Amino acid sequence: MIVTGAFGALGAIVTRELVKAHCRLACVDQLTSANAPSDSADCIVLAGIDLTDSTATCKAMMNAAGRLGGIDGLVNIAGGFAWEKIDGGDIATWDRLYNLNVRTAFNAIRASLPYILSGGRIVNMGAAGAVKAAAGMGAYAASKAGIAKMTEALSEELKDKGITVNAVLPSIIDTPANRLTMPQGEFERWVRPEQIADLIMFLLSERASAITGALIPITGRV
Ligand SMILES: NC(=O)c1ccc[n+]([C@@H]2O[C@H](COP(=O)([O-])OP(=O)(O)OC[C@H]3O[C@@H](n4cnc5c(N)ncnc54)[C@H](OP(=O)(O)O)[C@@H]3O)[C@@H](O)[C@H]2O)c1
Repeated sequence: MIVTGAFGALGAIVTRELVKAHCRLACVDQLTSANAPSDSADCIVLAGIDLTDSTATCKAMMNAAGRLGGIDGLVNIAGGFAWEKIDGGDIATWDRLYNLNVRTAFNAIRASLPYILSGGRIVNMGAAGAVKAAAGMGAYAASKAGIAKMTEALSEELKDKGITVNAVLPSIIDTPANRLTMPQGEFERWVRPEQIADLIMFLLSERASAITGALIPITGRV
């Protein structure tokens, strides 16, 4: 398994669940942070990888696939958020979020595909907010809508190879960063990273072999 954005709030939980399930995996992130698990044959740590850089991404995936002996699943979690209204906003924000959310996923997928085995799985991170964009969410929602359409198109392209491609669409995730920026929020209504990890583990499993091209909202009580 490959997890991108593996040192972030959700990535760390998904990584933990994969390790618990005895998966061999590679954790890819641009951070070189203390959050990183320690590198081992079963949990390869590829830190400091900028997934907007296609050459660096190709090298990282080749390295991971070589050490793991192929790739059964790719979980694209790397990404991010910005809130900015269009009136008075900056086109650079749109470019930045496109790079952060679409380009990273595209590069990771393109670089991994040669190593993804039949029966493989790709899980992308969309966002519930991309279905109907709220004020200030234009650039973010557009980038996550890009993930949704990438998921649908790729699922069709890979159907006959037996590789499934799905996306999960969270609302607000209960992360420390979100609690900090929205201290008045109703945290108990937000979706917990563990709940999203459960859904991702299901999509990676044999039981989900007939599910592809799905955009699955996971929104807690938001
Ligand atoms: N949090 C939410 O409420 C929410 C809701 C819906 C969807 N999502 C999506 O869910 C995913 C995870 O969210 P999260 O809250 O866990 O975010 P997070 O804590 O910021 O984790 C994302 C990780 O991806 C890394 N990353 C960003 N750009 C990268 C790049 N170019 N190359 C390699 N790694 C990169 C980040 O590194 P840096 O810290 O250095 O940027 C970070 O370690 C994201 O795709 C996000 O858009 C989140």
